[in-house]
Amino acid sequence: MNTQSKEYSIHLENESQDAAIEQLSANAFGPGRFAKSAFRLREGVTHEAGLSFVALVGDEIIGSVRQTRIMIDGLEALVLGPLVVVPGVKSRGIGAALMERSMEAAKAGTHALVILVGDEPYYARFGFSQVPRGQINLPGPADPARILCCELVPGSLQKYHGTAERIIGN
Ligand SMILES: CC(C)(COP(=O)(O)OP(=O)(O)OC[C@H]1O[C@@H](n2cnc3c(N)ncnc32)[C@H](O)[C@@H]1OP(=O)(O)O)[C@@H](O)C(=O)NCCC(=O)NCCS
Repeated sequence: MNTQSKEYSIHLENESQDAAIEQLSANAFGPGRFAKSAFRLREGVTHEAGLSFVALVGDEIIGSVRQTRIMIDGLEALVLGPLVVVPGVKSRGIGAALMERSMEAAKAGTHALVILVGDEPYYARFGFSQVPRGQINLPGPADPARILCCELVPGSLQKYHGTAERIIGN
C-alpha cells in the first residue's frame, strides 16, 4: 500500500486486530521467534489491553507494540514487545510514537518496572538501559547486553532480582 502521503494515527489495540498483529510479528521475526526468550515470556499469556497500541493508516495496521505482565521472583513487572513497524514505513517516527504512547500508559499505571529484549542504541531514547548483568534473567538464552529496563518508579530496579517468568492464567 502507498502510505507515503497518508497520516498515521496511534490507537489502543482491539481484539479484532489480533491476527493482523500476529502476521506483522511473523513477517518481522520469522518462525524462529517462538524460540526467543522474550517470546517465551509471553507465550499463551494475554497482553495488557491498556498498554498495547497499533499505528493505523485508515484501517491498515502499520505498526504495533504490546506489553505483558510478568513476575520476577515474586514481584510483578511488565515486558514490552514485540515492537514492529512494517518495512515500507520505517524511520518516520512510527516506532517512537508507539513506544511513547505505550510507556506513557505504563507510567500512568501501577507497575514499577518495564523490561525488554532489544538494542540499547534504539531503546535508550525511551529511557531504557541495560540491566546489570545477571540481575534479571530470562527463561532461555539472551544476550545480557540486550536485557534492558526502564524504571516507572525511580529506584525500583534494585528490588528486582531473579528470573522473569510468565504469569499463566491472567
Ligand atoms: C525497530 C523498529 C520498530 C523501529 O521502527 P521505526 O518506525 O523505524 O522507528 P523510528 O522511526 O522511531 O526510529 C527510526 C530510527 O531508529 C533507528 N533504529 C532502528 N532500529 C534500530 C536498532 N536496532 N538499533 C539502533 N537504531 C535503530 C533507525 O536507524 C532510525 O534512525 P534515523 O531516524 O536516524 O533514520 C522497526 O525497525 C522494526 O519493526 N524492526 C523489526 C522488528 C524489530 O527489530 N523490533 C524490535 C525488536 S525488540
